[in-house]
Amino acid sequence: MTASSDPTPIAESQPGGDDLPAITARALRLRLRQQEILAELGVLALQGTPFPDLIETTVTLVAEGMQAEFCKAMEHLPERNCLIVRAGVGWDEGVVGHATVGADLESPAGFALRTGKPVISNHLDHEGRFRTPELLVAHGIHRAMNVILQGEGKPWGVLEVDSRSDGSFTEHDVAFLRGAANLLGMAIERQRFERDLKASLEQQEILLQEGNHRVTNSLQLVASMLSLQSSAASTTELREQLQEAVSRISAIARAHERLYRTRQIRNLNLGDYLTDICKDMDDAAGQCDVHVSVAEEVQITTDRAISISLVVTELITNAAKHAYSSGETRPIWVTLERDGDMLTISVRDAGDGLPEGFDPKKSKGLGMRIVSGLLAQLKAELTVKRDEPGTAFVMTIPIHGQR
Ligand SMILES: Nc1ncnc2c1ncn2[C@@H]1O[C@H](COP(=O)(O)OP(=O)(O)OP(=O)(O)O)[C@@H](O)[C@H]1O
Ligand SMILES: [Mg+2]
Repeated sequence: MTASSDPTPIAESQPGGDDLPAITARALRLRLRQQEILAELGVLALQGTPFPDLIETTVTLVAEGMQAEFCKAMEHLPERNCLIVRAGVGWDEGVVGHATVGADLESPAGFALRTGKPVISNHLDHEGRFRTPELLVAHGIHRAMNVILQGEGKPWGVLEVDSRSDGSFTEHDVAFLRGAANLLGMAIERQRFERDLKASLEQQEILLQEGNHRVTNSLQLVASMLSLQSSAASTTELREQLQEAVSRISAIARAHERLYRTRQIRNLNLGDYLTDICKDMDDAAGQCDVHVSVAEEVQITTDRAISISLVVTELITNAAKHAYSSGETRPIWVTLERDGDMLTISVRDAGDGLPEGFDPKKSKGLGMRIVSGLLAQLKAELTVKRDEPGTAFVMTIPIHGQR
């Protein structure tokens, strides 16, 4: 996938151009070891080995496979027109992470980078085509071989082996080096892809959080405007109605606020969410105490969780408003239980009880109409139990939308 366009190495002229007759048992063993190394690197790349580990292992194994004292992987820094050593073996302290070589066509590594062609230089001392980089001179290097490192997009850098010893790098060595470079190129590409993916996911999350944040702010703004309007209302009845609208809008705003404060987007933990909502309601419910007990690990879609939270908010508001005409303690209990795919949620009080003939389906109040509407959407069923004392509203709700 990452082979460069022209596989012909740019080498000094070699007598005969073919080293086949020179193949000995030792050379054969070396080629076999090179094959093993490529297989080893391939497995590491496929296993998704972290890039810094893979690049370290690559330079170490490539040096071994080439029987060379030095190897390095260099990253191209276009703004400085140079290549910086990112990983290496054999080099003096301070080279890896710091040393650079020119990325222009006159340096062997620069030539490999810009043309995509492998470069063999077996006699650096007599090299007429390239200038020998200072780094190689300082380490007494006689011969070098460079291949480009690239993903599917633009080049990343160069992989180079160097040796102080006499001898020659050959076309077979180029094939091995290119094999290693291609495997590293795969990892470079994956690393780029993962980085881009992470950035775009983060961007999406920020946008969504921002959206929820704005919805919350707008709802709070509407609630404050209605609140102002209610304080200026001409009749008590109108004032109370506007105030009720304010509490409902505030309940929806609170639900949204919870959403943008969590990192969950499509699903959320219903138990945690209801606990939070009930805590808010406890603050808003005046003399009443809201007690919550929830099953753990109930994951549910955000849409369903919001509808459920609005139903629970209405029922707690009713209990706080209508259940207790007197009493020091005014408890309200909210429970969430799970049985397979079914949830049971109850909102219970120990108050004076419902008025005679109360029928949730026929109630003229807006509260019970909202509850009935949302429960129908949720495909849920409501049972109203007259306790001694008090009332329990018990709902059975399927976790998933369709039954
Ligand atoms: N927990 C409860 N205990 C006693 N009575 C209740 C309880 N919940 C509801 N009710 C009675 O049921 C009636 C209907 O409730 P509903 O929520 O529909 O209307 P509301 O609370 O009166 O007005 P709104 O909800 O529109 O502000 C209430 O007026 C109240 O008489
Ligand atoms: Mg009500």
